[in-house]
Amino acid sequence: MRLHIKNVSHRYDQLEVLRDIDFGIEPGEVVALIGPSGCGKSTLLSIIGGLLAPSDGEVLMCDQATPEGCLNPLTYVFQDFALLPWRTVAGNISLVLEDHPLSKAEREERIAEVLAQTNLSDFANAYPKQLSGGMKQRVGIARALAVRPAVLLMDEPLSALDAQTRILLLEEFADLFARTGMTAVYVTHNLNEAVRLAHKVVALRRRPGTIKEVHTIDVPIQNRQEGMPELIAHEQALWDLIRDEAIAADKELENVA
Ligand SMILES: Nc1ncnc2c1ncn2[C@@H]1O[C@H](COP(=O)(O)OP(=O)(O)O)[C@@H](O)[C@H]1O
Ligand SMILES: [Mg+2]
Repeated sequence: MRLHIKNVSHRYDQLEVLRDIDFGIEPGEVVALIGPSGCGKSTLLSIIGGLLAPSDGEVLMCDQATPEGCLNPLTYVFQDFALLPWRTVAGNISLVLEDHPLSKAEREERIAEVLAQTNLSDFANAYPKQLSGGMKQRVGIARALAVRPAVLLMDEPLSALDAQTRILLLEEFADLFARTGMTAVYVTHNLNEAVRLAHKVVALRRRPGTIKEVHTIDVPIQNRQEGMPELIAHEQALWDLIRDEAIAADKELENVA
């Protein structure tokens, strides 16, 4: 599915958050949204996912192409995992399938498939409270994949995790994107995550967020490795792009406090 974010602007009452955002998301592309805190990244992701109607502009689905068996084209992955504590890992994944006309066998097959994709096969019967933060987020990803989305929407999916877990999951995400060719929009304020995962990085200015630059990284995701000179150069270029915005946003927040 190809999406066109067309001249999207948004305000919350008096607060202008996004102004005239326009870019495309191609099939198989991972697009990172970066920018200083408060610039409207989460707002934009909610608009792309249809959770929030923009004040102006629109999100166009340029075609209806979805993966076979897709139950929800635009699927959100939550930062705080949002798992039901009284359901097992398999039960949490099953939840998003229960409203759909699937046989028990089809449901079980999907659950087994996404558990394998997220290295959770041995944990199907565990409860969320038995799992570390990293494992909980794997369940969040597995649950999102179970509906075979056309576009996966991820809002800082690693930000609730400790540094070591973040590195592990980042590698798993890179592997997942490379293997599946998944289309995704990935919000982060971490430039390292952006250069490891994204084909295209949309850098936003501080509020009201406008596009400062769309930065392309043409190294195949499967070939990217931590510390690669080419990636370090991209990360530096992104930092040069948003440094002034981040400094100014930081000062604005201090003035408010
Ligand atoms: N529901 C809301 N009502 C009013 N203001 C909001 C709401 N959600 C976010 N904001 C404000 O909009 C701005 C952008 O928020 P957000 O999209 O969460 O930014 P980011 O994800 O880039 O940090 C912030 O100033 C935030 O306080
Ligand atoms: Mg946010």
